[in-house]
Order: sequence, then structure tokens, then C-alpha cells
Amino acid sequence: MSDPLRVVVGISGGIAAYKAVGVAREFVLRGHEVHVVATESALRFVGRPTLEAISRNPVETELFDGVAEVRHVALGQSADLVVVAPATANTLAKLAAGFADDLLGTTILASTAPLVVAPAMHTEMWQNAATRENIATLRRRGVHIVGPASGHLTGNDSGPGRMAEPGEIVDAALAALRPRDLAGRRIVVTAGGTREPLDPVRFLGNRSSGRQGVALAEAASDRGAEVVLIAAHLEVPAPTGVELREVATAEQLREGVLAAAPSADAVVMAAAVADYRPEVVSEAKIKKEQQGDELTLRLVRNPDILAELSASPVEGRVVIGFAAETEGDDAALLELGRAKVARKGCDYLVVNRVGWSEGFATERNAVVIVSRAGDIVTRADGSKREVADAILDLLH
Ligand code: CTP
Repeated sequence: MSDPLRVVVGISGGIAAYKAVGVAREFVLRGHEVHVVATESALRFVGRPTLEAISRNPVETELFDGVAEVRHVALGQSADLVVVAPATANTLAKLAAGFADDLLGTTILASTAPLVVAPAMHTEMWQNAATRENIATLRRRGVHIVGPASGHLTGNDSGPGRMAEPGEIVDAALAALRPRDLAGRRIVVTAGGTREPLDPVRFLGNRSSGRQGVALAEAASDRGAEVVLIAAHLEVPAPTGVELREVATAEQLREGVLAAAPSADAVVMAAAVADYRPEVVSEAKIKKEQQGDELTLRLVRNPDILAELSASPVEGRVVIGFAAETEGDDAALLELGRAKVARKGCDYLVVNRVGWSEGFATERNAVVIVSRAGDIVTRADGSKREVADAILDLLH
């Protein structure tokens, strides 16, 4: 685990304050030191003993407590990370204007740590022009905004305004601390699996879930890159903050890649692309009465997008391919990878093993990355996010 961080969890007065307990708990469980700064109204929603028990530290509220230790700025000065969850419309307005009329305000103003804010309010308040402008101001200053999600609110209403879930807030907050080493780079990522139609209701597809490609897009975006995600049938949500272009077939994916690639600094081809498509797509549903006991499908080759891209290299652009192989033996797997990188001509090839139970819908991945010359440059084994970060490190 990474070094423990000193995290200030600021809680303002909205009903979602009860979920802030989960935010503090999640940081503590991940080994970090939590100091809760709650506004007076936050403590009407959630009790001080709860927050103190969960954070394992006294809860700070009073501007005039600890004046001798200059407490109103000390907490902010010593924080590695400041998270405000929930941030009410009122708190957002105060943050945007730089108010320092309570301990949360002074703490934030005195801090140079990344500031992560999780808004929570009724939809009308979230959509109000004043709130929109406050959010835009905060974003411009580099404040990280997480959520809000859309869903049930406190009354009978539902819509955008629900605070993001604690785990998501903590993930986003920790991501805000990562270096933005890919700032200014434009990265195209393909993800998911293409589907080749047979008729209006059927297709030939594959088991790619899109998880590894989505993890790549999210990691690149967190590290400051401008990301175009060309996605085919993702089973997981696309990350926010990336430009999403949805495609269905290999030919559409090819068009998407060729359109985005000229201005890219890197293209990462994580999508599982169908090598063949039905020669003829039936206009109407194929009927078994007409086919009888056997049906023969004639397939034709799809273009190899990775090979095509690699055949016209652009100075400074890195092209990374994936090789999904079912070979069980490590040495033979590597040989397949070496042969494939030579055949495709890409700069790097990420070789991973797939099988009935490996590779696709899992949260983890184990890969070996080979260069065009066939040398092993990296091995990575971990969550798909960790593998994504190892792949992106190749772009340094
Ligand atoms: N790929 C592609 N266009 C295709 C097929 C694959 O661009 N028509 C890309 C994939 O996105 C991946 C890499 O090529 O990055 C390798 O995909 P894989 O399915 O492992 O290889 P194949 O080309 O299918 O080779 P083989 O049939 O030998 O396994």
C-alpha cells in the first residue's frame, strides 16, 4: 500500500452528510489519517461521536478552538488531500467566492493540496445558473468535481444531484494525487468487442467486456491526457471526461481509428476486433424453415486495423496492440507475441492469456509487453487499472 496520507474530509450541511461517514471510513480502511472538519449544519445531520469513532480523530468545527496553535490554517497547511463531501450549493458558492467565515473555509484557503468536491443537492439547485457558474469557476481553478450522480433524492424527486458513492469519491480523490505526466498528450484507446451482423437480430461477437480498454482510458485521462475512447459494446460504463465514440463493427472501428489517429500521440488498440464478417448480411431474419438442418455462413476477412496503422508510422506517435492468446505455456505464449508484433509492426504488443475463465470479465489481468524487436519491456500483474498504468508508462 502507498504511504498514509493526511486527509481532511470536509462535511457540509446536507442530508448526504450521512454518506460522508462512508467516505471517512473508506480512507481509514485504506490506511490514511482522516481529520473531519464539519460545518455546524453538517452536525445536525450526523453526530460528532459517529464521525470521531470512524475517523479516529477529534472532529473540528470551531474557528475559535485551538487559536494558540493557529488551528484555522494548520489543518489545511498540513493536509495532503482535501475532500469536501457533501458539498452543498451554499458551500460551492462559498468555495467559488473564497469565503473564510468558518473552519472549513479557512482550512481550504490555507491548503495547497488537491481539492476534491462531491456536490449533493436537489436537481433544481444543481442546474441553477449560479451553481453552474460556481462549478465552472472551481473546475477552472483545478478543483476536482466528483459526481453528482443521478437518482433518488431526499424527497419524492429524482434526478442529477445525488452525491457520488463513497468508494467512487475516494477513488477520484486518490487519482487526483497521481502525477499528470500525460498532460498535453492526445491518446486514442479502443475498447470492447466488435459485432458483425448476420441479420437484423443476430451477430458474430466475442467475449471482450471492455474493462481493460476502459481502465486505460480512465488512467490516461487521470494522468492528464486528452482521450478519445472508441468503444464497441462495453459491459462497463465509460469513464467521465473522455470523448466517447461508439461503434459496432470492425469496419466502423477502423473508420473511428483512422479518423482519430492522425492527431494522436498514441493509439492503444485494446478492442477485440472480429477478424471475419459474414459476406452477406441478410436483410430479414434468417429462418430455419428456409435453411433446413444446416446453415453455412461464408465469412470474409476484415481489415487489420493495427497492421494498417503501423504500416504508416507517424513521427512521435506510439502504436500499442494487444494479443489475446489461449496458449497455456509461458514460453510459447511469448513466442506467439513476438511473432505477432513482427507481423503487425506496432511499437509494442501487450500479450495476455485468455481462456474460458481468464482475461475477459475479470477485474485482474497479467500481461507481458514486448517491443517491436521482440524484447520484453515490462511485465504487469494486478488490477486492470494497474496494468493500464504500466502500459501508459511506455509513453514516457
Ligand atoms: N486487430 C485489429 N484489426 C483486426 C484484428 C485485430 O486491429 N482485424 C488488433 C486488435 O485490436 C489487437 C491486435 O490486433 O490490438 C491483435 O488482436 P488478436 O485478436 O490477438 O490478433 P489477430 O490479428 O486476430 O491475430 P491471430 O488471428 O493470429 O490471433
